[in-house]
Amino acid sequence: MNNFLLRLNNITKSFKGLDAPILNNINLDIANGDNIAITGVSGTGKSTLLHIMAGLEKPDKGFLEVNGDKIDYLNQADLSNIRNKYYGFIYQFHHLLPDFSVIENVIMPMIIRAVREKDLYDNGLKLLSDLGLENRVNHLPHELSGGERQRVAIARAMINNPSIILADEPTGNLDYMNANIVFDMFLEFANNLDTAIVLVTHDIDHAKKMKKIYRLSEGKINS
Ligand SMILES: Nc1ncnc2c1ncn2[C@@H]1O[C@H](COP(=O)(O)OP(=O)(O)O)[C@@H](O)[C@H]1O
Ligand SMILES: [Mg+2]
Repeated sequence: MNNFLLRLNNITKSFKGLDAPILNNINLDIANGDNIAITGVSGTGKSTLLHIMAGLEKPDKGFLEVNGDKIDYLNQADLSNIRNKYYGFIYQFHHLLPDFSVIENVIMPMIIRAVREKDLYDNGLKLLSDLGLENRVNHLPHELSGGERQRVAIARAMINNPSIILADEPTGNLDYMNANIVFDMFLEFANNLDTAIVLVTHDIDHAKKMKKIYRLSEGKINS
């Protein structure tokens, strides 16, 4: 037994057309409540690494453990259960559904699960108001500013009360000031709930606010 939320064991991944593995025998432990930044130039495999952490992509070699259980990549139902139970995702572009309101976007990932709709709605409202969006609940995404949309994406990522959030350049599409505001809000929020964060970022100031910083380069991860 171990107390790691996520453990990457000897993860290796290659893609056709690249002469070296993009990830070469990577080992990484992520504990509950951890704050980890992953930096590295474009094309070094940061997004691929996040996809592998999420069980969205299968490594060529090595395996992933989530909460002590070895991931079986063939069992799609278990994979998707684990993702719904443990993970939240935030991307560079918000990926909000344009025809649905803010609150609908936030609670959508949970509607497929057997949660009472009233409770879900109340949780969604609470999250949105914690993120300063209480007056935007019934707006459509195109009626919001970029920073507000990204805060909705944060609320959506948190609606299942995840153990870990995988964030791939979550503020990369915002101007400097908004990026800082949204990032600090996200960080405080996640840390208050003891949610672990794996943050892929080019922003060195944001990386420095994490407990650990790793750099991905030539298939290897170094602290
Ligand atoms: N599904 C795929 N098929 C082939 N090549 C891929 C695939 N996904 C990513 N790559 C390649 O792997 C490398 C790393 O990509 P990525 O993980 O997106 O890097 P980063 O997020 O660090 O910019 C890039 O050269 C990219 O073109
Ligand atoms: Mg990427």
